[in-house]
Amino acid sequence: MTDQPTPTSAPLPQRLQPEPQPELPQPEPRPAPQPTPQPDAVAAQYPSPLIPALQDEDDVRTGLHLSPMSMNFDDAFDDVDSALGDDAASIAHSVTASILEYRTIMGRTYHSERHDSKYFTPNDEQQMRSQDLTHHYLTLLLDNKLFLAPVGEDMKRVLDVGTGTGIWAIDMGDRYPGAEVTGTDLSPTQPPWVPPNVRFRIDDCTQDWSLPADAYDLVHLRYLFGAVADWRHLLRNAFRCCHPGSGWAQSVECDVIICSDDASVPEGGAIETFWNPLWREMTKNLGISFQVLEERLQIEAFEEAGFVDITEVNFKLPVGGWPRDPKLAEVGEFVLLTMINDLEGYTLLPWNIIHGENTPGYREILYRLRRELRSKSMHGYMKVRYMYGRKPEHA
Ligand SMILES: C[S@@+](CC[C@H](N)C(=O)[O-])C[C@H]1O[C@@H](n2cnc3c(N)ncnc32)[C@H](O)[C@@H]1O
Repeated sequence: MTDQPTPTSAPLPQRLQPEPQPELPQPEPRPAPQPTPQPDAVAAQYPSPLIPALQDEDDVRTGLHLSPMSMNFDDAFDDVDSALGDDAASIAHSVTASILEYRTIMGRTYHSERHDSKYFTPNDEQQMRSQDLTHHYLTLLLDNKLFLAPVGEDMKRVLDVGTGTGIWAIDMGDRYPGAEVTGTDLSPTQPPWVPPNVRFRIDDCTQDWSLPADAYDLVHLRYLFGAVADWRHLLRNAFRCCHPGSGWAQSVECDVIICSDDASVPEGGAIETFWNPLWREMTKNLGISFQVLEERLQIEAFEEAGFVDITEVNFKLPVGGWPRDPKLAEVGEFVLLTMINDLEGYTLLPWNIIHGENTPGYREILYRLRRELRSKSMHGYMKVRYMYGRKPEHA
């Protein structure tokens, strides 16, 4: 692990007000669903190119509630209730708003069914808070840097693929006011209060990207594990979009399997019997990797796409504040907070897929997991890999 001498305190993003977590197991049925964004209000933030792209859409569904939940991933998302009104005005309104009509599973919302992709975490406030915390600990880890690739300071165009809350793109927009920063995602969960040089668009990164070729000084891809089946295709897209000669792509991925160097992950505990196997099972079940590092998917994809000057930087990501190094201890506290804030969001859909919705014990295992993660005697860590490469002049 790289020892960093001085801790760097990045300011906490606005959304990060940790909520008190219940200590006791919760009752099985969840309470009322979280509120979803109001279509008109959110659609207004994305006047173009989002809305025109939806004009010819003919398959609009509303009232997407999944009940009962299926054990099969496709069924989980396909068995939806369509309550489309049949007058033309209502159809037009619904068409423009359809990407805002989220699927709901046990009170958590997931991205719109408009996309073929099926992503495993919710897109609601609770999960967004964890995404912002992730950005915070990764920024701490890099001593307040936003990327490692040696991109020139005078960058003009930056692309953030799978931007989530848009927090990295927004920080980039602030730090590089001369650059135009574009963030893409399946879900329009980004805030309206962004720097003037930042914009967001809906784009499925597992398809061919609807973005210009040879245009970007930096293409940033972070925490797309569990989202991408074909990493070579993803990096071919990135390669196409990078500026020849000076454009870089950077991929940041995490293997969420928790391990330790001192056998302190409790034998037979919730990490060993529930958390770690869940991600291995998901990889097998979906054919979408949750072990991007272990399977070395980044390096293969960078090489195959044609990038040069490929560089790999590895970190151990402590879970909890156990490291002696103060910076890593702070990183670890935020990693733990990120997880504890939304253990349900990370595991609900995977649990339903792997074990089945009605399999008893979900709340109890979450309770045990939470306690284990918080235990001071556990010195667990996950692995994070930064990889970046440059597009050659004559590609
Ligand atoms: C763990 S979050 C990471 C967010 C952001 N990259 C960051 O590091 O802060 C993963 C994001 O990828 C998005 N995503 C998942 N599948 C996607 C796809 N096929 N195309 C575009 N975005 C996708 C999700 O909606 C989510 O916002």
